[in-house]
Amino acid sequence: MGRMRAKRNIPIRMERCHERWFDDPMLNKGHWREACGFAADVPVWLEIGCGKGKFCTQMAESHPEVLYIAMEKEPSVVLAAIEKAHEMELPNLFFIKGDANLIENYFDKDEVDHMFINFCDPWTRQNKPKRRLTYRDFLTKYKGFLKPASKISFKTDNDELFDFSLKEFEESGFELSELTRDLHNSEYDAANIRTEFEQKFADQGINIKRVTAQLK
Ligand SMILES: C[S@@+](CC[C@H](N)C(=O)[O-])C[C@H]1O[C@@H](n2cnc3c(N)ncnc32)[C@H](O)[C@@H]1O
Repeated sequence: MGRMRAKRNIPIRMERCHERWFDDPMLNKGHWREACGFAADVPVWLEIGCGKGKFCTQMAESHPEVLYIAMEKEPSVVLAAIEKAHEMELPNLFFIKGDANLIENYFDKDEVDHMFINFCDPWTRQNKPKRRLTYRDFLTKYKGFLKPASKISFKTDNDELFDFSLKEFEESGFELSELTRDLHNSEYDAANIRTEFEQKFADQGINIKRVTAQLK
């Protein structure tokens, strides 16, 4: 058995859940609501680096009023998320198998109401801060499709990434709120949905950091 067979099966398994994803998602730029069969006034929430889909499936389930789009670049990982959404028969959750480096090709001006970035790769050991999904060049790209006064919800286990991100948000014209360095022991925990990585870090006794950044 092993990984080879598992990898070869990816296209077949993706095909079984084809109603969850698009062959050429860039064609949906500016038309996501219509492409997914939703009315023009439905809020669009976007998550990047969704992993295996624990967070996005629970978010979509608890917010049936929104159209939730989750992006993930790793084929086997996005497949796991897609299959989870498929099994749960969630009508409002769709996926982009793609790279956030090209995010500006997927969404148009004022198309997104809220964004989520959870436990993105910290790039601390390799010392490549420009690759962080909260680096100012990424934030500039997000501003190109976020509606005025939209929010980005950000969670991480990593102190260095968190401090870096707070600075990047502030210097890019975002206002910070709901900031905590110990989410699971805070007033915000009751409404919090844990991601796969979040649970793993919490089990290791690592405090979870969380902030909301709102466009001024
Ligand atoms: C550390 S994992 C966290 C996964 C999930 N958000 C969680 O909290 O459990 C980071 C995920 O982001 C994805 N990712 C990293 N860079 C990305 C990019 N540029 N575009 C899309 N996905 C990306 C990785 O493939 C990985 O699945």
